[in-house]
Amino acid sequence: MRTLVTGAAGFIGSNLVDRLLAEGHEVVGVDNLSTGRPSNLDVALHSDRFTFVETDVTLPDLRAVIGGVRPEVVFHLAAQVDVRKSVADPCHDAVTNVVGTVNLTEACHRAGTRRIVFAASGGSRYGEPPVLPVDENVPAHPCSPYAASKVAAELYLECFASMYGLSPISLALSNVYGPRQDPRGEAGVIAIFGSAMLTGRTTVIYGNGDSTRDYVFVGDVVDAFVRAGHAAASVTGTFNIGTGVQTSTTELHRLMCETVGCAEPPRYEGARTGEVQAIALDPSAARCALRWDPRTDMREGLRRTVEWLREVTTAPMEAGAALGGFDRNRR
Ligand SMILES: NC(=O)c1ccc[n+]([C@@H]2O[C@H](COP(=O)([O-])OP(=O)(O)OC[C@H]3O[C@@H](n4cnc5c(N)ncnc54)[C@H](O)[C@@H]3O)[C@@H](O)[C@H]2O)c1
Repeated sequence: MRTLVTGAAGFIGSNLVDRLLAEGHEVVGVDNLSTGRPSNLDVALHSDRFTFVETDVTLPDLRAVIGGVRPEVVFHLAAQVDVRKSVADPCHDAVTNVVGTVNLTEACHRAGTRRIVFAASGGSRYGEPPVLPVDENVPAHPCSPYAASKVAAELYLECFASMYGLSPISLALSNVYGPRQDPRGEAGVIAIFGSAMLTGRTTVIYGNGDSTRDYVFVGDVVDAFVRAGHAAASVTGTFNIGTGVQTSTTELHRLMCETVGCAEPPRYEGARTGEVQAIALDPSAARCALRWDPRTDMREGLRRTVEWLREVTTAPMEAGAALGGFDRNRR
């Protein structure tokens, strides 16, 4: 299969690239390296079936790239992913997440792409649903510019689908964790806790620790993308990709302490704007249409994440320096 992955140098995108290459597919990776790291593509760059193109999904260049490659399946993961940045600069968020998706979809239509698989945000698209785990029949209720931009991108995909028959699939992901999640970002609490614990820094919980999230391992998420890429044209629409299980931040902290072997209590600070209080996604529709299941038990997922964090985290020191293995300028 000839594929193109946007956001290829990011956390989920690079894991997806590796899986597609391992399965024998051709992959063109696109990324502007705004948050993605070239080092995430170290394995991929050894494959003669992988090509990396540094460009921005909002630019006309993208149309030339997609027109040249003519991918059968496009996995669209490039995005501004930080809720707090979306609150501080909603215009930038909208340009990347909405205009970028429209630009990409238009290019895919012209290039005859059979399927776009889009990384939607299940953790933010439903707001605070009355019943958990929430299913896809509950209307979207975005509570942050980030959530609104991801829902808007889903709507554009649906609009192009009805105009041109593109058969897109939006995977509404819950909170994804695992190897390559950047612990220096504002999102990705498991990577942030793990990195802090491994380098002797105090962990911070925003709010009282009672808020809950549905944590899903990146290997399982990548599996959902691959299944969506292979699914029949009749399978289209939005599918939740989560475990259906809520874990509170306090409980997560306890599990991380257990996994890392750390006894230091967290510091509590005020809750942050734009974040939901409780969420868990019902994955029944994906189970039925994609034959997808979250297979990785949370303790095993945390163990694999901490193992990776140990590899990239050197001696106890300041966050940036301790993660010196992440050299954004490496090719
Ligand atoms: N990580 C999660 O828990 C989670 C949950 C729900 C949805 N998602 C979605 O999954 C996707 C991947 O998220 P991630 O966690 O891997 O984040 P990430 O920041 O690691 O990956 C995003 C990638 O997109 C690239 N990018 C950003 N703007 C770009 C642009 N204009 N042009 C080209 N490339 C650009 C970045 O450099 C980065 O490599 C995103 O669309 C995100 O909204 C993630």
